[in-house]
Order: sequence, then C-alpha cells, then structure tokens
Amino acid sequence: MKKGLKVVLLVIGGLIVLVALAAAVVSFRGIPKYEAKKVDVKIEYTQARIDNGAKLASMLCRSCHYNEQTHRFTGRELTEVTQFGKIYSKNITSHADAGIGKWTDGELVAFLRTGTKPNGQYVPPYMPKLVHISDEDMSSIIAFLRSDNEWVKAEPTKQPECDPSFLTKFLTNIGAFKPFDYPEKPIPQPDTTNPVKHGEYIALYQLECYACHSKDFAKNDYLVPSKSEGFFGGGNKMFDMEGKPISTLNITMDKRTGIGNWTEEEFVKAIKFGQLPANQPGLRYPMIPYSNLTDKEARAIYAYIKTVPVIENAVERKGAE
Ligand code: HEC
Ligand code: HEC
Repeated sequence: MKKGLKVVLLVIGGLIVLVALAAAVVSFRGIPKYEAKKVDVKIEYTQARIDNGAKLASMLCRSCHYNEQTHRFTGRELTEVTQFGKIYSKNITSHADAGIGKWTDGELVAFLRTGTKPNGQYVPPYMPKLVHISDEDMSSIIAFLRSDNEWVKAEPTKQPECDPSFLTKFLTNIGAFKPFDYPEKPIPQPDTTNPVKHGEYIALYQLECYACHSKDFAKNDYLVPSKSEGFFGGGNKMFDMEGKPISTLNITMDKRTGIGNWTEEEFVKAIKFGQLPANQPGLRYPMIPYSNLTDKEARAIYAYIKTVPVIENAVERKGAE
C-alpha cells in the first residue's frame, strides 16, 4: 500500500475511534449538571397570588403536569415530545418525597428561571423556562404550588425517570441547550393600562405565544424574542399527543396567509375557546384554549400582534376535519 494512503486510512480510522469514544462519553454522561443558582427569597402566599398562580398554572403547567388518572399535577409521559426521548413530566404536588414538598421557594424560582434543579441537574427544552416572567407572576406560581388547590395537593404517584434520546444528550453536551442565566435585575409588572405593552408582556414573556408560533424552536431567540426567525409567522413543526405532526399557524396580520382578516372578536374566541371563524374545525392540541384569560388580556394580545411585522408564510393546516 502507498504510504500516503496508509496515512489517510490511519487518520480516518483514528477519527472513527474518536467519534465512537465521544458518542460513548455522551451516552454515559447523559444530561450535564450545572451549579444551581442560590436564590434567597421569602414569598408571601397571599390569596390574590394563589388565585393568579392557579390561573397561570392552568395555562403554563397544566398541559404537561396534569394527570388524567389522579386529577392532580402528578405528571405523565409526554408522548408529544418523543424526538427528545422517553420523557416524563414530574409530580409537582406538595408531597414531600414524590413531589416538591421539600424544595425551598428559592430553589423553585431558580429552577423555573434557569432550568437547573437544586441537585444541579439541567432540564432540556422539554420543560420551558420562565426567563422573563415578572417577579410578581413568579411569586404567584410559587404561592399556588404551596396552596391547597386540588391540583397540587400531596399525592404519592411517581413518574419514571426520563430516558433522553442520544440527540438530546448530544445537544446538551455541546451546549446547544444549556441553562439560562438568572435575571440580573428585578422584573416589574407590565403597564396594564397600555394594551400594546400589556399584550406584548403576555405574548412574549408570560405565555410565550411566539415560542411556538415562530419558525422553529431551535431558531428562537429566547432572550430577545422579536429576533426569533419567522417571528409569529408560524410553521414550527410540533407533535400532538399521538405523536402526529402538527404545524403552528401564521398569526401575523398578513391578509392572505395570516389572520389579517380576523376581527378582534374572532381572535378572542379562537384563543379562549379554540373556535375558528366561518365554521372551520376547532383548534387542536398543543394549542390549548386559554379560557382563563380575561377578555381585556385577550384583546391586549390582539392589540400587540397588530404591531408585529407582517410575514407572508402560508402554512397548511393538515389533518383538521
Ligand atoms: C412542555 C411540558 C412542560 C411544561 C409546560 C411544564 N413542565 Fe415542569 N417538567 C416537565 C418535564 C418533562 C419535567 C421533568 C424533567 C426532568 O426531570 O428531567 C418537569 C419537571 C418539573 C419540575 C422538577 C420536579 C422534580 O422533582 O424534579 C418542576 C418543579 C416543574 N417541572 C414545575 C413546572 C411548573 C411550575 C410549570 C408551569 C409554570 C411547568 N413545570 C411546566 C415538563 C413541563
Ligand atoms: C405549545 C405551542 C403553542 C403555544 C404556546 C401557542 N400556540 Fe397558538 N397554535 C399552536 C398550534 C399547533 C396551532 C394550530 C392548531 C391547529 O391546526 O388546529 C395554533 C393555532 C393558533 C391560532 C389559529 C390561527 C389560525 O389561522 O387559525 C391562533 C389565533 C393562535 N394559535 C394564537 C395563539 C396565542 C395568542 C398564543 C399565546 C397566548 C398561542 N397561540 C400560543 C400552538 C401554540
């Protein structure tokens, strides 16, 4: 064999061994750990906060943590995110062992903002993080988790450990998915007297409509949402509970491919009850009916979306009968 060829083969052989080794390391290491942020907070569990927290949890946590058998937030298998592996949401009732009864308020806040659990375990994007939600809304969610609301009453049902796919392990190990930094400054409440500002807060920072309604989760800018690719132009490919593909729709005000011809009333009906204009079939999971939004909040989202740059992007609504 020629010397040059031998060297090439050796190099290729070496590379294969290296890749195999790297794969073995990634598989073995699993999802990396990080240092959890120490947050020192003392949250008052007022009734107003518990009520606001229950409302937020109905829109932000219920779809993944509610269990049909126990009727509580004991978690379930997330059959809609199989691309990430065999993923189970956890028991987040106040049960001391099965749930989060032993977590401090600071540990909960740190985890919900950054994605790192008290033991350092990082949770990839199959659980969204509340990077920008106001401190007051965050306190409300914690007050709710501590309350005697039926959803979070102590219940011992446990879920199996997650078994993330190789891709998830790989992407977390190269740092493509990693914890968010803890906010440096306090995050105030939005100005609710200004509909556009109020709607912007809900659509970007509280309920994060843009995260699903832009082009691709991987191309979102979670720190500056408006820089996300195809901002509100839809086309993000997701899965329903049976694992069948479903795309998010264009909700910019483009008249042909978006919702530019909708009235404010039609918009409110669609997002609160999943009902579409002109007798079209209703909206399907993972678009949940945001029935706990007040009409003022739903109209504020509409006012804000009217200010979003229009994108022409026709997304086919497949499989809706
Ligand atoms: C898209 C699905 C999804 C949504 C929405 C979601 N979670 Fe989770 N959550 C998960 C998954 C999956 C895990 C398990 C991750 C793991 O252990 O690796 C989890 C884990 C947790 C844990 C850690 C529990 C433990 O014992 O380790 C807490 C606390 C939690 N979620 C709270 C919340 C709260 C509060 C909300 C709403 C503000 C919420 N989650 C919304 C999917 C979700
Ligand atoms: C978890 C992902 C997700 C989130 C978060 C989400 N949506 Fe959706 N949305 C979808 C999907 C998927 C569809 C398409 C449903 C279908 O085809 O039946 C949809 C459809 C819609 C439609 C119907 C558009 C049309 O042309 O028929 C509107 C309006 C809408 N969403 C607004 C919102 C608003 C406002 C928010 C935030 C309060 C939001 N969505 C949050 C996934 C999401």
